[in-house]
This record gives sequence, structure tokens and C-alpha cells, in this order.
Amino acid sequence: MRLAVLKERRAGETRVAATPDTVKKLAALGLTVAVESGAGAGANIADADFAAAGAELAPDAAAALAGAGIVFTVMMPEAELRAQIPRGALLVGISGVHAEPGLPAELAAAGIDACALELLPRITRAQAMDVLSSQANLAGYRAVIEGAGEFQRAFPMMMTAAGTVPPARLFVLGAGVAGLQAIATARRLGAIVSATDVRPAAKEEIKSLGATFIGVEDEETKSAQTSGGYAKEMSEAYRRKQAELMASTVAKQDVIITTALVMGRKAPTLVDAAMVASMRAGSVIVDIAADAGGNCALTVPGERTVSQNGVVILGWRNWPGRIPVATSSLYARNLLTFLTAFWDKEVKAPRLPADDDIIKGVTLTRGGAVVHPQFLPARAA
Ligand code: NAI
Repeated sequence: MRLAVLKERRAGETRVAATPDTVKKLAALGLTVAVESGAGAGANIADADFAAAGAELAPDAAAALAGAGIVFTVMMPEAELRAQIPRGALLVGISGVHAEPGLPAELAAAGIDACALELLPRITRAQAMDVLSSQANLAGYRAVIEGAGEFQRAFPMMMTAAGTVPPARLFVLGAGVAGLQAIATARRLGAIVSATDVRPAAKEEIKSLGATFIGVEDEETKSAQTSGGYAKEMSEAYRRKQAELMASTVAKQDVIITTALVMGRKAPTLVDAAMVASMRAGSVIVDIAADAGGNCALTVPGERTVSQNGVVILGWRNWPGRIPVATSSLYARNLLTFLTAFWDKEVKAPRLPADDDIIKGVTLTRGGAVVHPQFLPARAA
């Protein structure tokens, strides 16, 4: 069976869905791995590195896809490229289906069996395949590094013969995978760190990393987490209480890292224009939620902006793509683990049992039909 690895085509996408290491392991399963020329360029992987690992280099996407039974991508390809994927092929990647509800019907019409790995259930067995976690972890790290780069003072307290430099105060909004890594990174750099979240479990996690928990704790927060582990959208009353607390906290901060997401919805606005106006000139807001609209009202997705009072706001899209060597390496291993878990060694092909929790969670389309209960055509309309 042939597995194609495509060059990513979305603007600013630097990652790749395989590395020489995973190519070797995919070949060991009995697969012929075809890599589109230039696929690894954004992540410093040369065509020659893929070839040395046993991949067949394809001059373009059409050549890579010819006869492919499996296609690995970071972001699932757009319509023009999807049309070149052989009918019946298994496509594995991040679909972005929440932002593009018509996608499953299009994939089904093209006869593509699509597995959207961002829909993986948060269960122990799926941890090593969890693309959201692997990418968010590094995004959280990178956000602090870029925030530190923009900040015109130092993070740690420095007592020198010439005087003392005070430590930076850094506040993390949203303490999921990205937020917890941001806390840990900022602590390692010597900042004084506090953080907030709506899920009750987050409080202990924040404290265990040596940061201070700041948050509204009321009846609503007791049920703020879905059975899948994600945050729910909070009520208007909660949002008002949270905004009051944020207003008094934000004014004292030097650096703010925002990571709050609600699965399938626009990111909540947690830092409004008045809060930004209360910050000192030279403060920095790093908005990792920019792809989902941003947690700061002044964030311009894709841009670095400076507010009227001199606060730098980094609204870059695709934070994992800003550290592509590391994110590609983990992402490629997530995909390898997924395929290996469902690999039938006898027939040397994937076997995806429809009643398996992981397969049920990620399968958008199968045999020309939309099968995911959340995205059935009637619901998506
Ligand atoms: P996420 O990326 O969906 O959201 C980031 C954070 O923002 C979350 O902690 C969320 O609670 C918080 N948030 C949402 N709305 C907010 C608001 N209005 N104010 C403040 N904070 C808000 O979350 P992520 O990182 O995907 O983690 C979600 C959960 O899944 C966590 O409990 C995490 O520990 C868990 N998880 C479990 C895994 C497993 O068991 N295999 C793997 C990865 C994560």
C-alpha cells in the first residue's frame, strides 16, 4: 500500500506530517511512502533526508497521490487538491471541521475516508496520538519565548552591583495544555506567574506549577467542564464577574498569554479594550487563541499590533507553525502511532473498527458517506 505525504499549501503553514524517522517506521509496516518534493522545507527536512530514510520522492502532489491508499497531512487539503486524492483513500490530518461545516459532505462526495485527529477523545489510549496536545504544548512554550522577546525588560529579578531589575509579572488566561506549558516556561525564565481558568481541575494544576490561581469560583464553575474534558461556554452572569476580576488583575501585569478556547466556538473575549488601556506602555499580550478570533478584543489575527497606550499585541495565527521542527516531529509521531494502532499486520493495511472509541471519535466520512454523529448533513446545514 502506498502512503502519500503532501507539502502543506495553506498560507504560513511550515509543518510537515512525516519525518525521516517516521518514514522509516511506516516503511517497516510494509508501506511505500511517497513524499512530495519540498514537503519538509519549512521544518528543515531536505528531500534528500526523506529519500535516505527510504521515501520515494514525488515531483508534485499528483505524482505523490497517484495510487495512494493513505494520505498524511497536517491541515487537510483544500478542494483542488482533494480532487486528486484517489477514491477510497484514507486521509488523516487536522480537518478544521468546526470552522468549515460543509467539509464532511465534500469529503464524502469525493469518496475520501477522512479521519480528523483534532476530534480524538481525550482518553489515555489516545494520548500518544493527541495532536491538539502535542501542538498546544509547544505553542505555549513558543508564546512565552516570543513574549519575552518583545518585552523590553527582563523576566527574572536581577540583583546587580548597578541596581536591581524587578521580575516580570506574567498572567496566563486558560490553563489547558498550552497554558500550563506557558506557566512552566515563564516560571523557568524567572517571571512571577499567575493564571486563570474556568475548569475546577485547573486550579490545582496551576498551583502545582508554582503559579498563583486567580479566578471566579462559583456554582457554575463546578460544571464548567464537559465530559470530554473541554470548557463550556460560560453564562453572561459568569462573564461579568470574570471581567471584573480580570480588570483588576490585568492592569498589574507586564505580559499576558491568552490561550482560552471553547471547542467548536469562537474564543471568549477575556481582555477588553479598557483592560488593555489600563496596562503600562511596553507590556505585551500574546494571544495564542488568535486563530479562533482571539481572547483580546484588540487582537488582529495574523498581525503584531501596538495599542494607543503602547501595549504590543501578538496575534499570530498558527502558533505551532512558529516552532515547526519540534511540532512536526511530534505531529508525525502522533500520526504514526494512530496508524500503527490500527494496522493489520496480516494484510498490511489499516483496519478501522467502527465501534472503537477512537475511530468513532475521529471518523468524519466512510465509504462515501458522512458518518460522524456531530457532523451529519442535517446538523451541519
Ligand atoms: P483548550 O485548548 O480547549 O482550551 C484552553 C483552556 O482554556 C482550557 O483549559 C479551558 O478550560 C480554558 N478556557 C475556556 N474558556 C475559558 C474562559 N472563559 N476563561 C478562562 N479559561 C477558559 O483546552 P486543552 O488544552 O485542549 O485542554 C482541555 C482539557 O483536556 C484539559 O482538562 C486537559 O487537561 C485535558 N486533556 C486531557 C488529555 C487526555 O486525557 N488524554 C490530553 C490533553 C488534554
